Amino acid sequence: MDMEYIEVKDLKRKYKMGKDIVVGALQGVSFTLKEGSFTSIVGSSGSGKSTLLNILGGLDWEYTGGIYIEGKNIKEYEPNYYRRYIVGTVFQQFYLIPSLTVEENILLPIKFQGKRERDINERLEYLLKKVGLEDRRKHLPKELSGGQAQRVAIARALIDSPKIVLADEPTGNLDSKTGESILNLLEELNESEDITILLVTHDMQVAKYTPEVITLVDGKNV
Ligand SMILES: Nc1ncnc2c1ncn2[C@@H]1O[C@H](COP(=O)(O)OP(=O)(O)OP(=O)(O)O)[C@@H](O)[C@H]1O
Ligand SMILES: [Mg+2]
Repeated sequence: MDMEYIEVKDLKRKYKMGKDIVVGALQGVSFTLKEGSFTSIVGSSGSGKSTLLNILGGLDWEYTGGIYIEGKNIKEYEPNYYRRYIVGTVFQQFYLIPSLTVEENILLPIKFQGKRERDINERLEYLLKKVGLEDRRKHLPKELSGGQAQRVAIARALIDSPKIVLADEPTGNLDSKTGESILNLLEELNESEDITILLVTHDMQVAKYTPEVITLVDGKNV
C-alpha cells in the first residue's frame, strides 16, 4: 500500500476560556507530508501555527482528528517516547539551560538513559561537527551568539536521532544573515540525513527556503 509518511486528518483544537468563550484555534486542518520533505507552515499571527506544531510535537493531546505517522496514530505512542524518538522540536527562544555548557545542553535529553559512554560521545562529536560548534563545547549559553544558541538547540533536538524535526519560528530571534545560516543547516540536515522537517514562520522570505508550503488562515489550511 502506498502510504503517506505523515497524515494529518481534520485536526481541531478549541481553547475554552471560562464558561462562555471558546477559541477555535484549529478548525479542521488536513494535509499529508512525504518522507524527507521540507515544509513551512505560514499564516498570520493567531492563525494556529504554534497550536498545530505543539500538537505535532506531542506537547498537546487535547485535539480531535488524527495524526498518523507511517500509518500509526501518534496517540498509540507513550508521550515521552514520541517526543524523544519520533520528533525533535526547536523553538524561537532556544530554551537552553543557562547553567549548562553547550555539550551538557545537547546531552541533557539522554542523561538518564543509561546509554554506553562511547555511543554518547560518538553522537555528541558527530552533532557538534554537524552544527559547527566543536570549538564552543565548553561555552555557556550566555557566551554564545543567537545563531550559535539555535545550533545547540538543533543538536539537542537531534540527539536521539528523530526522523522528524519541528521548528517554531527557528529564525525569529535572529538577524536575517544568521537566520539564513540556520535555514542552510536545516536544509543540509534535510538532505544529508533524510530528516523530514516542518517549520513555522510568518516570514515569506523564510518560507521561500522550503519546497512545500502550508498556509493557515483562521485555523484552516487553504
Ligand atoms: N493556551 C491558549 N489558551 C487560549 N487561547 C489560546 C492559547 N494558545 C493560543 N490561543 C489562541 O489560539 C489562536 C491560535 O494561536 P497560535 O499561538 O497557534 O497562533 P500562531 O499562528 O502561532 O500566532 P503567532 O504568529 O503570533 O505565533 C489565537 O487566537 C490564540 O489567541
Ligand atoms: Mg506562534
